[in-house]
Amino acid sequence: MLPPSMQTPLFGKRVLVGVGGSIAAYRACDVVRRLRELGAIVRVAPTRAAAAFVTPMTFEALSGMTCLGGVLDVAHGRIPHVEEAHASDLVLVCAATADLMAKMAHGLADEALLATLLAFPGPVVVAPAMESHMWSHAATQANVATLRSRGVHLVGPVEGVLASGRSGAGRMAPVDDLVEAAAWAVCDKDLAGTQLVITAGPTVEDLDPVRFLSNRSSGRMGLALAVQAARRGAQVSLVHGPLRIAVPAVPGLTPIAVRSAAEMHEETTKRAARSDAAILCAAVADARPRTLAKTKLKKSKGELTRVELVPTRDILADLGAARKKKKAKRPVLVGFAAETGEVLAYARGKLAHKGCDLICANDVGEAGSGFDVDTNRMLLVWPTEERWLPHASKDEVAWHILDEVKALVARTTRRR
Ligand code: CTP
Repeated sequence: MLPPSMQTPLFGKRVLVGVGGSIAAYRACDVVRRLRELGAIVRVAPTRAAAAFVTPMTFEALSGMTCLGGVLDVAHGRIPHVEEAHASDLVLVCAATADLMAKMAHGLADEALLATLLAFPGPVVVAPAMESHMWSHAATQANVATLRSRGVHLVGPVEGVLASGRSGAGRMAPVDDLVEAAAWAVCDKDLAGTQLVITAGPTVEDLDPVRFLSNRSSGRMGLALAVQAARRGAQVSLVHGPLRIAVPAVPGLTPIAVRSAAEMHEETTKRAARSDAAILCAAVADARPRTLAKTKLKKSKGELTRVELVPTRDILADLGAARKKKKAKRPVLVGFAAETGEVLAYARGKLAHKGCDLICANDVGEAGSGFDVDTNRMLLVWPTEERWLPHASKDEVAWHILDEVKALVARTTRRR
């Protein structure tokens, strides 16, 4: 069982939420609530202007901690902003106004939040919120560049309706994106410098304008791999078929939406060439209609029962063959096998036939392992060994698989 800190990276982490004087300050309340739900210890540092929008009492009730007060609130010989800087794992400034970012960029410290930031050596995430002209102003953009150059991670702003009622860039990023950026920021970056291409979800093969062939894959396993890998610092291209779940905004994770097996083949193959590893988790359709009908096929004319199917190209097998032809070790190739019985035998067959380094196999007929569930029981199969992973959440399974991918990539690096 993974420690809770790895299942939910914010578990037990101390997060200082800085809030600026923007109408978006009310959304910081949701951020505080969500961070606490994920097990973080949260303290809020509102600026004096923020307190005009949301009272400190609200933040104290939501965080369960007193707010960080004024910069001169030194009592009993203790200096709160210095103590807070030492105790925090992350500072998340949400509803960062133009004024607050200008002060951060210039090292001013006339607020407890700003003084804490000067004393804090750890990761800082900033979510700007302001009118679009204030955001695009050269002064603000220069301050943004300064903050970025110092390693501050900016989330948003996004386009949308602003406090003035007009629309434009300047709206604070969604709460989900801020929470995901916080999770990313506190994770160890043990996969930094690693390029991955991951496939996920089903593919869809159209028969006519209204019908298609597809399968039951939800894409959850591939998504868990992509999110965990990006949190661990990898640069991830996620080539995915139509998904029912949203792809979260994680720094380093680039989603590439495709529909058919042919599109997935093209997008995956061109990215695999520059990747350290390709993890092919998608349930790719094995067959497609020979032709795509321009108009609806008619049952009454018997057209539906005459649909001729042709095989799709096997992405994994093609990558394996291309690597073998070049006598190369890269990219490391990881495949998946969703079976209904004889899991080891089929997995061994696929490992050899598709020329990959590792097959992750499961029995989709087994309770709690397969489609539309959040857990999996996975058998890892290498050319000369195999090992069952414990029945666990897809996040935890993804974590273990990524450890194995990391080891395989390290081995190919040593061999080069
Ligand atoms: N795969 C692929 N391209 C395909 C079919 C499969 O890249 N056209 C990959 C899958 O992403 C997975 C692995 O091959 O990593 C095994 O897929 P699976 O569907 O289990 O195997 P198949 O080759 O389709 O064999 P079978 O239907 O006989 O189980």
